[in-house]
Amino acid sequence: MVPAAVTVEVHRVGPAGSLAADSQFGVALTTLWHAVSQAGGAVGFAPPVERPAVAAKAAPVVDDLRSGRAQGIALIAGHDLVGFGRLTPGTGITAHTGSITLVMIDPTRQGSGLGALLMNELMTLAAELGLERVELSIRDGHRLDGFYRRHGFVEWGRRPGWVRVADGDDRDEIFLWADPRSAR
Ligand SMILES: CC(C)(COP(=O)(O)OP(=O)(O)OC[C@H]1O[C@@H](n2cnc3c(N)ncnc32)[C@H](O)[C@@H]1OP(=O)(O)O)[C@@H](O)C(=O)NCCC(=O)NCCS
Repeated sequence: MVPAAVTVEVHRVGPAGSLAADSQFGVALTTLWHAVSQAGGAVGFAPPVERPAVAAKAAPVVDDLRSGRAQGIALIAGHDLVGFGRLTPGTGITAHTGSITLVMIDPTRQGSGLGALLMNELMTLAAELGLERVELSIRDGHRLDGFYRRHGFVEWGRRPGWVRVADGDDRDEIFLWADPRSAR
């Protein structure tokens, strides 16, 4: 449940969305992504994480959102970006599929239902785009199984020891898929 005192707006990011993928959004995404990564979130980094390294990864994400190659869902509270997720539709012979990546909620707001809201919006968007299969991958050991299963995702495979979280701590990368037409 979202706490009653917190009003969270949902925006789609990009050419057809209600939020522009501009430089201001790029700064906000970098701030959120850095905070989530520093807190140990499974979004491409392991702490300690330097902000410039995150900014370098955020720049092409913003470019893809601006061009429409990918679509974003942004959760905004006040002036803050408190949640983000990216949906990248396939092209050509995989145009009926999509990938969900960069699912993240501000560490101070995790565990209050915003992640479920974000996933609902991403799966609604995928269904609206006519996608029949969406995939994502998770690191083992992050309590994420139940979270994604509630949105219809099932495991189809894993890469053993693929993510080195720290020296001596290699985690499996687990691949999940769902049908967005029935998964919301
Ligand atoms: C995973 C994440 C998006 C979920 O968002 P959220 O707002 O915390 O999720 P909700 O409140 O809607 O649901 C909580 C569920 O997420 C799970 N969860 C995973 N990581 C969590 C965390 N750091 N804090 C709280 N819950 C977490 C909980 O176990 C809970 O599942 P359960 O109900 O089966 O116990 C969010 O915790 C996050 O940003 N984590 C760091 C980044 C990350 O690892 N992203 C996943 C990339 S694959």
